Amino acid sequence: MEERIVSGESHEQEDWEERSLRPQNLTQYIGQKKVKENLTVFIEAAKMREETLDHVLLYGPPGLGKTTLSMIIANEMGVNLRTTSGPAIERPGDLAAILTALEPGDVLFIDEIHRLNRAVEEVLYPAMEDFCLDIVIGSGPTARSVRLDLPPFTLVGATTRAGMLSAPLRDRFGVVSRLEYYTHEELTEIVERTAEIMEVSIVFEAAVEIARRSRGTPRIANRLLRRVRDFAQVRGTGDIDLSITKTALELLQVDELGLDEIDQKLILNIIEKFRGGPVGLDTIAATIGEESHTIEDVYEPYLLQIGFLQRTPRGRIVTIQAYEHFHLEVPEQ
Ligand SMILES: Nc1ncnc2c1ncn2[C@@H]1O[C@H](COP(=O)(O)OP(=O)(O)O)[C@@H](O)[C@H]1O
Ligand SMILES: [Mg+2]
Repeated sequence: MEERIVSGESHEQEDWEERSLRPQNLTQYIGQKKVKENLTVFIEAAKMREETLDHVLLYGPPGLGKTTLSMIIANEMGVNLRTTSGPAIERPGDLAAILTALEPGDVLFIDEIHRLNRAVEEVLYPAMEDFCLDIVIGSGPTARSVRLDLPPFTLVGATTRAGMLSAPLRDRFGVVSRLEYYTHEELTEIVERTAEIMEVSIVFEAAVEIARRSRGTPRIANRLLRRVRDFAQVRGTGDIDLSITKTALELLQVDELGLDEIDQKLILNIIEKFRGGPVGLDTIAATIGEESHTIEDVYEPYLLQIGFLQRTPRGRIVTIQAYEHFHLEVPEQ
């Protein structure tokens, strides 16, 4: 699939730059007031008691700062961060190897934790609850189970879909935090911060314009800023003003709400082929040639957030706001 500029998902080649833009501590982390306030207290309390922090589950759409927050948690606790992901841990033995290599107090970050398989998950339960590992030695009638102690650690799990986590796993997290889409003001601040790190000058109005088109998502704001910077460098003086920003965003085909071709295709399909819905997710996926779960995780959350789509038991419905945005007439019922 072609790279999508307004996707919250990360792309490999941006990793090095993203790393340098990542806030290092809670003070630098803009927005997410509630999550930050809670974590500040929990981290402080754990440090006062000289205990490890409770296990933390972070969930929300891609690009909102889950990975960043896991790094900040380790930083603030003054411990090492070990990073892995659900699909990377194939067998129980893989997880056992990771767990036994931890040092006391370490943060273990498991990205896409909803993709852990059942057998691995079962190893995780006693590890999270009692910091121990049950391993079976031998096989057949002589097989016996041995309990191994693990160093105390903090598991930080991240997922775009909390609903796909099994109940027993979810219940073992002491802290469950949902990341929200950022406001335009917060995104403006993020754009200004990023510009400063990239040593490029940007006028306030241009930062606001980029923020407004970033779908509430820091990763997208940073990505749009990079592209606008390219235009400013090649077609302008290098400084970012409002006019070069608008020109650049127009050429990138990102509209005033941050919607792009795929969003348009999704909405227009429901309008044109299904009279605005209700229509099932799988049917939408098939008609626009995307995976259902990609639509559900990546495209749909923002369209729901801005009230262009509604979820009903009978399927998705396009709202009047969406018809108005695309200058289309609402069909009579
Ligand atoms: N609260 C924030 N303040 C400033 N920048 C942020 C914030 N949250 C995320 N970012 C930026 O957005 C990018 C994506 O964040 P990341 O943690 O990778 O998102 P996720 O893991 O949820 O997909 C990071 O590179 C970081 O620079
Ligand atoms: Mg991430």
